[in-house]
Amino acid sequence: MFYSVEERESTMNFITKAPVMLCGGDYNPDQWLDRPDILEADIRMMKKAGMNSVTLGVFAWAAYEPREGEYNFTWLREIMDRLYDQGIYTELATPTGAKPNWLARKYPEVLRVQSNGVRDHQGMRHNHCLTSPIYRQKVEELLNHLIDSVGDHPGLILWHISNELGGECYCPLCQERFRGWLKEKYHTIDALNHAWWTSFWSHHYDSFDEVEPPFDNGEQSLNGLKLDWRRFTTWNMMDYVHSETAILRKRTPNVPITTNLMEYFPGLDYHKLQRELDFVCWDSYPHWGRPDRSTTVTAGMTAFDHALIRGCKPDKPFLLMESTPSLVNWHEYNKLKRPGVNRMSAIQTVACGADGVQYFQWRKGRGGSEQFHGAVVDHDGRDDTRVFNEVTATNEALAALTPVCGSLPKADAAMIFDWDNRWALDDAWGMQIKQKNLRETCCQLYAQLNHCGVETDVVGVDADLNRYKLVVLPMLFMTKPGFAQKIREYVENGGTVVATYLLGYVDESTLCWLGGFPGDGLREVFGVTASELDTLYPGEGNRAIWVKSSQQSSIKDYCELLQPAEGTEVVAVYGQDFYSGHAAVTHHVFGKGHAYYIGARLDDAGNAAVLRAALADAKVHLRDLPQGVEYHCRESENARYHFYINTTQSAVKVQVESGADLLSGKNVLGSMELKPYDACAIEEKMK
Ligand code: GLA
Ligand code: GLA
Repeated sequence: MFYSVEERESTMNFITKAPVMLCGGDYNPDQWLDRPDILEADIRMMKKAGMNSVTLGVFAWAAYEPREGEYNFTWLREIMDRLYDQGIYTELATPTGAKPNWLARKYPEVLRVQSNGVRDHQGMRHNHCLTSPIYRQKVEELLNHLIDSVGDHPGLILWHISNELGGECYCPLCQERFRGWLKEKYHTIDALNHAWWTSFWSHHYDSFDEVEPPFDNGEQSLNGLKLDWRRFTTWNMMDYVHSETAILRKRTPNVPITTNLMEYFPGLDYHKLQRELDFVCWDSYPHWGRPDRSTTVTAGMTAFDHALIRGCKPDKPFLLMESTPSLVNWHEYNKLKRPGVNRMSAIQTVACGADGVQYFQWRKGRGGSEQFHGAVVDHDGRDDTRVFNEVTATNEALAALTPVCGSLPKADAAMIFDWDNRWALDDAWGMQIKQKNLRETCCQLYAQLNHCGVETDVVGVDADLNRYKLVVLPMLFMTKPGFAQKIREYVENGGTVVATYLLGYVDESTLCWLGGFPGDGLREVFGVTASELDTLYPGEGNRAIWVKSSQQSSIKDYCELLQPAEGTEVVAVYGQDFYSGHAAVTHHVFGKGHAYYIGARLDDAGNAAVLRAALADAKVHLRDLPQGVEYHCRESENARYHFYINTTQSAVKVQVESGADLLSGKNVLGSMELKPYDACAIEEKMK
């Protein structure tokens, strides 16, 4: 389906309202301007593959402006025209992910300074100074010329800001901005000294002018400084992004804006960054085919990643901006996706809330470091390869899923994820020093909810919890103002929560809560105090023994020594060591609700046992899924879409809702067989 400009404008926001499933990819014609034959073949082959969108110009600054102030957009307009004639939309990147050589030579201040204090040489990408006024000015000039040339193009459906934003700059300009940001935050240096606990090792500051960012060979001992530096970097990045979006919003107000986020990215607080965007999208490159991980486990981790990103803007579908049709070039071992996996992962992406799946990249370049990265079209230039055929079959499936566009995931459970918490944990000296395994904990709990057929959102601490029956708090080490109170009210009013080890150790400045963990009033809610934390060496373990059923689960990494309060039920006890027989998992009835506390890193069966008990208390409907089948649900005003995805290489029989399967086009009555890596999407019409 191809929508006119008028139709799209009347929908206000392309991604959510227009019923079109985007099938496309990154397209770099700027690398092929001397090969008109190839540019022509591209469009013909895109049509054959069922593509309806391309991302253009991601790294085209030098093609647009080869020398300062000399612009050339003729080639771009021509290509956009030809694409549009063939029903292919353009998503236009602002080409600021990589800067041209002339810019760096003439204005060295645009080069980023790394955490060792050394300024970068020109080269690579994603490495401009976030503050540099010259950089911002040159970008402004470029964007205005770009808009003059193609801003009115009927094929332009969205702006893609820069590329995979990230990184920190430690240059003098950024340092000065950091100090200004701190002044606004703390007002007085005493307040900063208190928040950062600077009496430690005599690191007291006398004025804001003394503060430096946490250079590698500088101040690394103040956790509050490190956290504020990361917060500042997000703020400064947002300020930079705003310098681009302000121009675009002013001059092309009907074109929505996004940028491609990354998997479990450590560098920026995406819950904040999303405020600059109309919808979110991300780039997903899972390690399909890793010998130490089943496809089912990889799919489960990917489902968590999708939920984490969509949770940044929970009221809108997201877009998968990039994925590979075959392999990447930057994993340690670059393995091909097995037949069927590309289609399965695309369907999973939609099941998790996407309104489109796109590739990096359409065609392999001849040179440069990405010459061997997977693409829809290989160096052989053919449109009948295995990969090309897999992409075509995937696009057929995506087209069949068009009715799903605009609907949203319908989740009974929520998992809380917070970037400040993640950073505070990463920076904390103690526990497992280098790898706290927050992501592992999140993914393991997420997968167990998934196995029960429970759709789970991953949301920030500001989320409204009342729409959920169950809330999971994995390693929520930091409680920010108001959050503990929110949990308390949620449980008091009948909600069910499951928290793990390391709950409520520090406040928003990383200062420890006094009076026992979990702090901030949570001890009362959970009816338990975590008095000590034992970290185990790799290969060491313990056991949890369930008091009622005698079920046993293995434990690794962390064991908290728990002191249950009177009236708290001990669900499981440790089976070994000097704390053998003492509580490992507890359950506390608080007000009208239930609070479970998991004091140790349990195996999958152990997590499943706790979650199943909590889901029963929360009265959440569970599904009986065969091993390796993933369930997801999206809902619109008129219909609910039930997705069952077979992540295994064997055929399986599944119990499903009755209704039309959008993928096979058949009516299904209560059960069906799914072939290896196949899926169904049952449409349940609502009255
Ligand atoms: C050394 C130092 C102390 C303290 C301890 C921590 O002994 O002298 O100040 O840092 O290590 O183990
Ligand atoms: C990222 C980038 C792309 C490309 C791919 C390769 O997603 O945005 O430009 O480098 O990685 O996988």
